[in-house]
Amino acid sequence: MTRCRIGVLASGGGSNLQAILDHLARLGDARHGDVVLVASNRPDAGALERAARAGVDRAVLRSPHAPDGEALDDVLARHAVDIVALAGYMRLIPSSVTRSYHGRMLNVHPALLPEFGGTGMYGGRVHRAVLGAGAPLSGPSVHFVDEVYDHGAVIAQWPVPVLPGDDEHALAARVLRAEHLLYPRVVDALAGGDVRLDAEGRVQSERFTSPRLPTMDPMLDDVTLAIRLDAALGPPLRR
Ligand code: GRF
Repeated sequence: MTRCRIGVLASGGGSNLQAILDHLARLGDARHGDVVLVASNRPDAGALERAARAGVDRAVLRSPHAPDGEALDDVLARHAVDIVALAGYMRLIPSSVTRSYHGRMLNVHPALLPEFGGTGMYGGRVHRAVLGAGAPLSGPSVHFVDEVYDHGAVIAQWPVPVLPGDDEHALAARVLRAEHLLYPRVVDALAGGDVRLDAEGRVQSERFTSPRLPTMDPMLDDVTLAIRLDAALGPPLRR
């Protein structure tokens, strides 16, 4: 059986990459894809170390950090990547690549888009903006990637409460927990063909029927949260 070939692009520590690898390993034969490539614009990215530990092929992409690196479209073609998951990738994807991966490239953003997204909104800036606005909820948004930062159709959002006394680090950690549970499930669903972008640019999915999920309860442990999330989503499609 041929499985979907997943490429992950990451610039940083790669905790979302790890969550994807762990989730697919947990699914075992029920998984819909395999991570076959991790590519980074930073030769020192922790994500590349995680890939090495998992025995996944790595590539360094051409950038000011890596002038000798490879071009993104060449790397994706060489590894016959079917779908791409951005996981903390800090560079704009060239439009030639977003066009060829239309409906096949995802990103996770650490706030409820369309608010708190766009150029310059990454890392601590996102969480500081959420706190500064006094928003009661934040949480990850998983969306298709197009030519504009944080702009493509949203597939799933998991609201996470902003708690009294939160600073950007506490809020970031709570949102990251939700990312680690949500993002791998969307990646697997895209790999299995259960998330599609239709001709009108709308998301079609049996598992992700409406983007907004019930608010996460941060008091629950990860296992319970995963069970609640799977119950809210419904069963994954069987191949
Ligand atoms: C996450 O907060 C994600 O939302 C954003 O970049 C961060 C990546 O973190 N796109 P990590 O490298 O996966 O730990």
